[in-house]
Amino acid sequence: MIERKPLPYRIRSFEDYQTKYAHSVNDPEGFWSDIAESFHWQQKWDKVLEWDFEKPEVKWFVNGKLNITENCLDRHLETRGNKIALIWEPNDPKERFERLTYRELYNRVNRFANVLKRNGVGKGDRVCIYMPMIPDLTVAVLACARIGAVHSVVFAGFSSHALADRIIDAKAKMVITSDGMYRGAKELPVKRIVDEALERCDSVEKVVVVERTRWAVNMVDGRDVWYHDEVEHVGDDCPAEQMDSEDLLFILYTSGSTGRPKGVVHTCGGYMVYTAYSFLNVFQYEESDVYWCTADVGWITGHSYIIYGPLLNGATTMMFEGVPTYPDPGRFWQVCDKYGVNQFYTAPTAIRALMAHGEDHVYSYSLNSLKVLGTVGEPINEEAWHWYNIHVGKEQCPIVDTWWQTETGGIMISALGPHSPNKPSHAGLPLPGIQPALLNEKGEEIEENEQEGYLVMKFPWPSILRTTYGDHERCRVTYFSHYKNVYFTGDGAKRDKDGLYRIIGRVDDVINVSGHRFGTAEIENAINQNDNVVESAVVGYPHHIKGQGIYAYIILKDSTDTIENLRGEITETCVKEIGPIAKPDKIQFVSGLPKTRSGKIMRRILRKVAEGEPDKLGDTSTLLDPDVVEEIVKGAQ
Ligand code: PRX
Repeated sequence: MIERKPLPYRIRSFEDYQTKYAHSVNDPEGFWSDIAESFHWQQKWDKVLEWDFEKPEVKWFVNGKLNITENCLDRHLETRGNKIALIWEPNDPKERFERLTYRELYNRVNRFANVLKRNGVGKGDRVCIYMPMIPDLTVAVLACARIGAVHSVVFAGFSSHALADRIIDAKAKMVITSDGMYRGAKELPVKRIVDEALERCDSVEKVVVVERTRWAVNMVDGRDVWYHDEVEHVGDDCPAEQMDSEDLLFILYTSGSTGRPKGVVHTCGGYMVYTAYSFLNVFQYEESDVYWCTADVGWITGHSYIIYGPLLNGATTMMFEGVPTYPDPGRFWQVCDKYGVNQFYTAPTAIRALMAHGEDHVYSYSLNSLKVLGTVGEPINEEAWHWYNIHVGKEQCPIVDTWWQTETGGIMISALGPHSPNKPSHAGLPLPGIQPALLNEKGEEIEENEQEGYLVMKFPWPSILRTTYGDHERCRVTYFSHYKNVYFTGDGAKRDKDGLYRIIGRVDDVINVSGHRFGTAEIENAINQNDNVVESAVVGYPHHIKGQGIYAYIILKDSTDTIENLRGEITETCVKEIGPIAKPDKIQFVSGLPKTRSGKIMRRILRKVAEGEPDKLGDTSTLLDPDVVEEIVKGAQ
């Protein structure tokens, strides 16, 4: 076992940033091994890095052995056993909140891990977690990691169909869920959704149900067990399974430009090192701070910056069960004051939604504990940036606009608290260890500033995705085949005169609705499930709150139903196939779609119409049927 040193990876000034950045480029292995040494490894690595972007194959801390939960929990017990690890704020402000110390969280994770074992789960088995934002969700995630089971958390807003697809792809052996859930004024029958999903899933042997709402639910004999019954039968201690640095830690499904979501795979060692390092530096967390990320654990932000990053640093992290506007649009700010939140991390879409309700809700609270504000998930427009800065941060808090992806595991481009440049709508500079570049159409690197291009990464970082579950070729084709020897992000970006990056948005067929990613093909597949639909094409368009909205062009079969009924039915089909977050914002029925002679839909044209710029359609002469464009433009008006 190697000696653990105090956090040597904290960056404390811009000068420090520059020195560390240079070090990370000149000697990446030395840079990362210094950081990795501050963690608890059961066995040290033989080699820091092996990589080949052609295959692709990336291995960090080769042959190192560890368990991430020993680093999140055990190693803090001596010095932080009584420190609050997790604060839970329920949906209903009148319900009791919960606070767990590091010792209590450790105990709960151990017991939950023993329940998993008792129900037949072991190292390498996949466990699907479909739950509301309650402390048991964090406990369940860590319990999987404790015994080396691979967690696959599915956002509890996905439909039973979407859940089943993810369970089947991962061949999950167990599902962990709850009876029901509260979210704002809504109540959701979570267990019933799981039951529906499981009608299609052969791999699942056990379902562990955590009590949240105390509703009566159907329990299948031999398959379903209550957590509170099971925990009566297990011991308090569960030894941490020894994991190889490159063993799977989790799968998280995300949308790509094809119809099927893909299971992004992260492994133990590199993910641990990178999420801890990036959390500490981006948020400039100090020992007694209270940190709050409003994301859901169902997304990567929740994995990396509610659970792993904060706990690895011994931080106090919050979980919020509700929504920003319930019971009123002052909820975020009321909660910030209630707990004295120091770092607050949310999505631009939430900021825009609250902006629409006016400043009075903000000014009802002092917010004087805030030190750093963060955003994630989509570009933040300047208006929202200034509103956040002036009304929430009182112009005293740096805004860290963090650019990253499910695939990158952690924040890649961002200010580091006040220690590197903050510019509205700019993510800023790359973290030390991250080597971005802009490429032109031909795949050549653009060296100059004040240029725009495709955003790629030239060198691996510890939390880069390793594969897409069960389909490595898909990983290669999606991220490593467009341009030679780089990781392709799918985003376009601009670099300003000082080298700060501004993310423009996706350059593939992915749209970002309220910070949630959808492949246009995925929504089209859902729409096409409706019996009345012949064909559809989906594009994104600018939406004042959601960032992008979903615009669906649909060709119908002959039907006697009214247009309004059909609109409703198709929306319902999307809810059923994916979930309420995938409802189209606009549906336009058309008689044809603009296609090239080879049958490819010209989305560029559909996008321009959706964006309200029909005068900028460009060349339509190569279309099979140019008349259809005229009809579409008229219909949109
Ligand atoms: O287009 C970028 C956008 O969100 C995409 C990644 O989505 P996802 O994997 O769901 O992860 C979201 C949370 C990390 C990116 O390809 N994106 C993310 N952060 C930003 C952003 N766009 C602009 N600015 C950001 N800060």
